[in-house]
Amino acid sequence: MNYTIAIHGGAGTILKARMTPAQQQAYLDALRASLRAGNTILKNGGTALDAVEAAVVLMEDCPLFNAGRGSVFTHDGRQEMEAAIMCGRTLDIGAVTHVSKVRNPIRLSRKILEISEHVILSGEGAIAFGREQQVAFEEEDWFYDDYRYQQWQKALAADQVVLDHAGQKFGTVGAVALDLHGHLAAATSTGGMTNKKYGRIGDSPLPGCGTYANDRTCAISCTGHGEFYIRGVVAYDVSCLMEYGGYSLAEACQKVIHEKQPALGGSGGLIAVDSKGNMALPFNSEGMYRGWAGKDEEQVAIW
Ligand code: GLY
Repeated sequence: MNYTIAIHGGAGTILKARMTPAQQQAYLDALRASLRAGNTILKNGGTALDAVEAAVVLMEDCPLFNAGRGSVFTHDGRQEMEAAIMCGRTLDIGAVTHVSKVRNPIRLSRKILEISEHVILSGEGAIAFGREQQVAFEEEDWFYDDYRYQQWQKALAADQVVLDHAGQKFGTVGAVALDLHGHLAAATSTGGMTNKKYGRIGDSPLPGCGTYANDRTCAISCTGHGEFYIRGVVAYDVSCLMEYGGYSLAEACQKVIHEKQPALGGSGGLIAVDSKGNMALPFNSEGMYRGWAGKDEEQVAIW
């Protein structure tokens, strides 16, 4: 049995021409740290669920990524975060939307998966549950980032809802893994869209849209323009093409990201691993912050 993990820090990315070598290095270092956190758990016989949670926690704590600490601002100048984590063995899933001040929405999602009888909790209710479960909270200044603030000011002035920054970065973070016991898991976390309002919900916390895992097929975490990923039920679509259509993981990802999503108008990507340890990291945007590792390899990339 082998083990493997893939991560993403959002599709789209800052345009290559605009990224300094120092910025590039910072992103690659952050991706590598996240990848290693997950891969070390897998190497030591830990579960895929623990691995994807650990990988996502590091990206949530890193202001470079639009999740947790680096979350974008809403129209009202707040961070409203969303996340989901799913176990491929049991099909259990826990998810949150509209949470503020929760340091790691993926940890809160894991608590929902394990303890709550529900699947998705939102807003004040999710926060009350998090306090009962003693997840970590932070004050607003923990989440403040000047770059995100300037993004929000520009979006406000232009009256636009923007998927992260102008280089079309569909900021979201995620991880998928296969563990030594043959089980799959997926996790996704995001701040959503800059200047979002009306309680907008993206694809990340929605089972089968931005996040899905099933030991019969694959584990998927998406990053892209959430409305299109919801309409395409993207993560479940990849799984269904495999389960009912006989597609390989690579064929299913090709069909969804390079044929079906562009036909709808959807831009972005996903990371996927199947129950045999095959991986796919397709995207139809300029780039996608990503990494993959296993027993004998460790790679990170942007474009
Ligand atoms: N894919 C992240 C979002 O649209 O919120």
